[in-house]
Amino acid sequence: MNKEIFYPANSDEAYQLLLAQLNAMIESEHNTLAILANSTALLNDFYQDRINWVGYYQLINDELVLGPFQGKVACTRLAKGKGVCQKAVSEKSIVIVDDVHKFADHIACDSASNSEIVVPIIVDDQVTWVLDIDSPHFSSFHTEDAKYLNSFVETIKKVLIIND
Ligand code: SME
Repeated sequence: MNKEIFYPANSDEAYQLLLAQLNAMIESEHNTLAILANSTALLNDFYQDRINWVGYYQLINDELVLGPFQGKVACTRLAKGKGVCQKAVSEKSIVIVDDVHKFADHIACDSASNSEIVVPIIVDDQVTWVLDIDSPHFSSFHTEDAKYLNSFVETIKKVLIIND
């Protein structure tokens, strides 16, 4: 549908463009599922070969339940207290894992994953969803990614709040 976007080589500029694209998406559509689904496609295009999975899990009664994503078939439910995504829930903060094989109870949905970042979406001090991104490379995510992905979910949050 859209023409392929070539992101600037400068990562700050690339992330600014990504955020502008997300904002444009939200201006024309407010349906939660539509925005979450298209935002995973946007992130997948943005990161290209740097990632092998990107998607959302919704927190429902302490369990994380699979939402819109791009990548291989994934675990549908993540139980409380286990894995990287639930760590982001309990800590209410972004978790970066440089080597998932060294994370004691990492839940492996795709054997290609070697590093991971999980960004919680917090509304009224409660985690409602998490954004999970897996990379086939070790140490793929850094503080700069955390900073911009935090801005990314802050924008997503506007749609979640409208539809609450
Ligand atoms: N690795 C995650 C599980 C979700 S998949 O990566 C898609 C975890 O440990 O919570």
